[in-house]
Amino acid sequence: MINDKDIYCYELSNAYFSKFSSFIYKECGINYPPDKKILLEGRLRRRIKALNMLEYEEYYNYLISPGGIENELIFFINVVTTNKTDFFREPAHFNYLKDNLLPQLYADGGSRYRSSFSTWSAGCSSGEEPYTLAIVMEEFKRQYSSFNYEVFASDISSDVLHCAVKGVYPEDSLVDVDISFKKKYFLKSKAPGSRLVRVVPELRDRINFFRLNLMDKVYNVPKKFNVIFCRNVIIYFDKKTQEEVLNRFASNLLPDGYLFLGHSETITGLNTPFTRISSTIYQLKQRV
Ligand SMILES: C[S@@+](CC[C@H](N)C(=O)[O-])C[C@H]1O[C@@H](n2cnc3c(N)ncnc32)[C@H](O)[C@@H]1O
Repeated sequence: MINDKDIYCYELSNAYFSKFSSFIYKECGINYPPDKKILLEGRLRRRIKALNMLEYEEYYNYLISPGGIENELIFFINVVTTNKTDFFREPAHFNYLKDNLLPQLYADGGSRYRSSFSTWSAGCSSGEEPYTLAIVMEEFKRQYSSFNYEVFASDISSDVLHCAVKGVYPEDSLVDVDISFKKKYFLKSKAPGSRLVRVVPELRDRINFFRLNLMDKVYNVPKKFNVIFCRNVIIYFDKKTQEEVLNRFASNLLPDGYLFLGHSETITGLNTPFTRISSTIYQLKQRV
């Protein structure tokens, strides 16, 4: 049945589409070009209904009011972000860590790495990426017991961070996970008929999740990292924002640190202090 609210908030005018998209760009760096108008309409409708409002205009005026900024901005960000992710997504990156980077660091028995090997998944969505990183690190640790690691993970969306902290996923989301990792790192729900799994507590406790907006001028992170994963995030940003974000990553990496981007992202044409070492894998340029 169609009710009044479905009819009223149906049409987002071009003028208000442009206001919303400028606001999203300012707050999150995300571009909504005109061909994404229908997508944005659908996403905003969820909040408009939840607030019992009737029109996009009414919602926009609330959003930019002092009360809206304080109370609604977080929900708005939750609906306008795209959060698709998977365990072992783009597996070449995890293979590179496992087969090249970690063995290189440990070639001399690990004496260079007395401190923890620190990784940051920036734009971690619902947690599949940092949990995958933790599995790769944990496997390496089981080989070299003196190896220590830390995984930090952040996102702008509070909704996905809640899911990530819980670490509960549909069993089907483990299709690309090796059977031995499923057994070691996931627990099946005991509830009858449930097809959910939960990441084991030892792995969940390894990850420090926090909320961070990559548009912040300075990143409030606890340390410098060996590796930053920021995959399938900057694709939504324009070139100027991409360059700013990548330069901020550079200042949060250790001197020979690595940056992993998503498969369709590149630093080509951007002024950044990175050198490409493999497909979508970059390293900070050595200072001379
Ligand atoms: C498509 S997901 C990618 C998840 C994961 N990195 C992967 O590749 O599977 C993009 C994530 O970036 C986050 N994001 C978008 N804009 C952001 C911003 N300005 N600051 C921090 N995170 C942002 C979104 O909330 C979303 O969870």
